[in-house]
Amino acid sequence: MIVLENLSVLYRSQGREVFALSDVTLSLPAGRVTGLVGESGSGKTTLVMAILGLLPPEARVRGRILLEGVDVAGMAESGLDRFRWTRVALVPQGSQNSFNPVLSIGEQVAEPIRIHQGASRTEAEKKTRRLLDEVGLGARIAARFPHELSGGQRQRAALAMALGCDPAFLLADEPTTALDVIIQAEIVELLRRTVRDRKMGMALVSHDLPLASGLCETICVLDGGRLVEILPAEDLAERARHPRTRALVKALLEMEQARP
Ligand SMILES: Nc1ncnc2c1ncn2[C@@H]1O[C@H](COP(=O)(O)OP(=O)(O)O)[C@@H](O)[C@H]1O
Ligand SMILES: [Mg+2]
Repeated sequence: MIVLENLSVLYRSQGREVFALSDVTLSLPAGRVTGLVGESGSGKTTLVMAILGLLPPEARVRGRILLEGVDVAGMAESGLDRFRWTRVALVPQGSQNSFNPVLSIGEQVAEPIRIHQGASRTEAEKKTRRLLDEVGLGARIAARFPHELSGGQRQRAALAMALGCDPAFLLADEPTTALDVIIQAEIVELLRRTVRDRKMGMALVSHDLPLASGLCETICVLDGGRLVEILPAEDLAERARHPRTRALVKALLEMEQARP
């Protein structure tokens, strides 16, 4: 459903040029969960933001980005509007901390439903309550303000917002970062259930290979903006060849051994 062909992204800032992505070719199949794993600075966020045309103006994009067969690389906003929210939705990095502090959670979850699905205020409010239930928060949380929620609750609300227009595909950028381990596990479970029940595809961005390998079928490893390996999650240890993946796998095996 999402195909990247020879995608390169170059940032030009203060006379310097940085290749955040170099010649990346991969596909994110519909109905499947694919992990995008790599260290900080490896280009993961650049990749997901490129898919939705959300890169900053100093970014230059080369290559093709096919959404349901349509090349959207360099496409104007109006062309991308067909896909954003309704076909492909984003849970942005740091989303639990990017709610508007002066608007209630319900108002913020309802907004994309009104704008991108043309729902009336009443319809959007009704759907918002249903979504807040679905992500395990309960409809009554709609009246609360962001500072009244825990980090984990805000992450659930960010997921509810992304689901507002029933997308076929979810891009989740580090959805468990900055949460403690117990809450991380709950969010992972919620994502697993959500993609299964809704028959969605998902790209899970994470610097955490153990976490990604528990949730994904396929793992794509990025290193310095290059795609260095694509592996089935179930036999990472046997198949990993690239030094970056081997280092990540070693940490995974050590962690499994340390488990009681
Ligand atoms: N707006 C920007 N201007 C210049 N360089 C950027 C910008 N955004 C990201 N970069 C650089 O691009 C590279 C990839 O960043 P990013 O996609 O955020 O990686 P990740 O999400 O894997 O941590 C890094 O070297 C980062 O410093
Ligand atoms: Mg990132």
